Amino acid sequence: MNKSDLIRIDKTHLWHPYTQASEYADIDPLVIVKARGYRLYDADGRAYYDTISSWWCNLLGHNVESINEAIERQLEALDHTLFAGITHQPAVELVNQLLEVVPGHINRAFFSDNGSTAVEVALKMSLQYWAMKGFEERKRFVFLEYGYHGDTIGAMSVSGVSQFNSAFRALFFESISIPSPALDLKASISALRDVAKRRDICAVIIEPSLQGAGGMLFYGPEFMDELEGLRQRYGFQVIVDEIAVGFGRLGRWFAHTESSLRPDFICISKSITNGVLPLAVTLTTEEVFQEFVGPYEERTFFHGHTFTANPIACSAANALVRILKETDYIEGVKGIEETIAELSNARLQGYGFLSNISNRGVIWRAELKGATRGDMFRLYKIGLEYGILLRPLGNVIYLFLPINITRDELEDIFERLDGALRVFSGG
Ligand SMILES: Cc1ncc(COP(=O)(O)O)c(C=O)c1O
Repeated sequence: MNKSDLIRIDKTHLWHPYTQASEYADIDPLVIVKARGYRLYDADGRAYYDTISSWWCNLLGHNVESINEAIERQLEALDHTLFAGITHQPAVELVNQLLEVVPGHINRAFFSDNGSTAVEVALKMSLQYWAMKGFEERKRFVFLEYGYHGDTIGAMSVSGVSQFNSAFRALFFESISIPSPALDLKASISALRDVAKRRDICAVIIEPSLQGAGGMLFYGPEFMDELEGLRQRYGFQVIVDEIAVGFGRLGRWFAHTESSLRPDFICISKSITNGVLPLAVTLTTEEVFQEFVGPYEERTFFHGHTFTANPIACSAANALVRILKETDYIEGVKGIEETIAELSNARLQGYGFLSNISNRGVIWRAELKGATRGDMFRLYKIGLEYGILLRPLGNVIYLFLPINITRDELEDIFERLDGALRVFSGG
């Protein structure tokens, strides 16, 4: 099929996620035919830096040889099997590998296949855990304003990003929101202290250190330290959603470990396979698992997905985790963070319409004061002309980069960003 056929059939029959078709009335979607390293290539051979890591999942650049080889080897041996009452080498190897890098109190892994689902699993486990322990009143979840945990009904019910989920409000279960620590730490901690005392709290769910979809909002360890103190005092559970930041984006295997927080559940996905195949894991403690051991009718966790622990996806994850263990990519993120700050200061200070410019780990963000959706979409299109993907979040532009990106590439990316912003501002 040639490019124009692809576009014609796409525009006639496909429906894209988080995409407004009317914005594409006069332009075509990018037809991507190849990905290598940090770049995506379109049907005309043009290259684009994958500056948002293909929705925050590509960790080490595209087409990593050892991951490809692991997938090929696994394909030869075992493609797929159900995971109920059956086990296999890639899943066992992966849990072993993960246990080496997750905090020591975590001992069990429940597999699924996307981030939202990893969150649903944690919510359901927490609710059932309390009910089985005889605390049926513990059924409310607490979440952060501007938090985002996915697009399924449960995940949306504990998310605070209204533009993304307001159409579905009628389906939500009742949950309790508290202010974002990234926007008002004092108010956030004060609300947390109030809510922690309630006897009906099942779990508090957070994105540690970075609220991604809420606008790339960074926050420090203070809120998580406070949460840990309250967790110990009042006994509710904590779910950390490491789906976006896990595996090194903020310079640690898992972001919440910058604090004293000891979560009951850790949700991971996205980068775990370098973004090659869908896979998610809900990690928890032996204590939670043991509560589910007992008579089939009363204590089984009745949840599972067809592609749970798909062996090929697990083999990709095994290869990814092995690379991270054998290299110093995660340690190197600190240096990348410094380079990003330096380039951002050097190149972007002069743009008066940019505000709240900040960066941490491999993530950089800025707000465009007063920008409309039309403005943001125009900037996205200019970005494409400059070979970078600036897919906006509201009035925020951001870079969400691989953890092994080099200084030369960062310089190139910031030069292109500078160029795109200059054109955008009419300069
Ligand atoms: C923090 C966080 N949680 C959950 C999700 C949902 O993951 P998925 O899109 O794989 O369902 C995302 C996706 O962006 C996310 O950033």
